[in-house]
Amino acid sequence: METIIQKVNPEFFEDEELKKGCGILQSGGLVAFPTETVYGLGGDALSPEAAHRIYAAKGRPSDNPLIVHVADIDGVCDVARNISQEAWALAKAFWPGPLTMIFDKQEKVPLSTTGGLETVAVRMPVHPVAAALIRCSGIYIAAPSANISGRPSPTKAEHVIEDLNGRIEMILDGGQVGIGIESTILDMTDKIPVILRPGYITKEMLEEVIGEVKIDPAVTIEEFDRSIVAKAPGMKYRHYAPKGRLTIVEGRPEKVVERINALVHEKEEEHKKVAVIAAEESKADYRCREVYSIGSRKTEGSIAAGLYDILRKMDDIGAEYIFAESFAEDGMGQAIMNRMLKAAGYHRIRA
Ligand code: TXA
Ligand code: MG
Repeated sequence: METIIQKVNPEFFEDEELKKGCGILQSGGLVAFPTETVYGLGGDALSPEAAHRIYAAKGRPSDNPLIVHVADIDGVCDVARNISQEAWALAKAFWPGPLTMIFDKQEKVPLSTTGGLETVAVRMPVHPVAAALIRCSGIYIAAPSANISGRPSPTKAEHVIEDLNGRIEMILDGGQVGIGIESTILDMTDKIPVILRPGYITKEMLEEVIGEVKIDPAVTIEEFDRSIVAKAPGMKYRHYAPKGRLTIVEGRPEKVVERINALVHEKEEEHKKVAVIAAEESKADYRCREVYSIGSRKTEGSIAAGLYDILRKMDDIGAEYIFAESFAEDGMGQAIMNRMLKAAGYHRIRA
């Protein structure tokens, strides 16, 4: 299949480009598009055929449910039931934006979209291209991240092209996304809401609006543990993983530098391809041919935005061993470390 790759200006989405994208979605086709978090692979959320095509294009297990993207409150009520006062308060505070909430599903949402579950994940994106596509197509868009299953989520159209060119009808290239890690997922079907996936909207931000919020144990585990069943089916899969062996090194900054330099030396002696992932502030301290800055420690946002691009680069350069600094786990740092630990298969050492 020939994939149409269309550059779009997020501030000024031209009629013709928009119409083409909407036409493809309306006729059951797939369109990848930018959101504020990562690129999504969109299809008609109410069409089982479109859902099957999404799973096939991504190579994703079909028990892993898709997020339904809506443009307004009417859309929320049309796909979800039993929406609590707390949920409306969160919607008012954070929608449109990078928060996904899980509710009981309405009959019309097919089980193929929800991976066989009676619940549905709903999100109202704020990115102008995503919002315009939903509005103008008149369709609720089921959209997982637009990557091949298991690879890091795409934060640029180039990543989508790498993974999905020739497998879908259209890619809308709106440049680099702003946040760079996926939305916070909050399960609203329990009495006390539960964070199933940490993201830009932190526990503290949610608690400020509705009081107590829990975190699913699968989010905070220290190592892969089969006895803990993640409530978001997608969180159980090995994710974001580069092909090389990624090790996260923790400890006092000088100790981390020392230990990583020693590890790099050891592996380079063995003629292995080695890379280091460091913060902007410390990247000059490493003696390694391949040192990548992930962003500044002063702005968690820059680290989140750079993470997936760097994980993909590790494969591009054929890194066999990768050593990464660790980052603070408060605020959005929890989402960053959650993704890094998964990418490392929970392999971390103390310097
Ligand atoms: O930021 C995002 O959320 C991006 C953009 C495109 O919106 N989407 C995204 O989708 O990350 P995806 O499919 O890559 O991740 C969705 C996650 C999966 O872990 C899935 O298991 C979980 O949400 N999920 C979806 N519906 C669920 C449900 N009904 N119950 C529990 N978990 C659910
Ligand atoms: Mg994904």
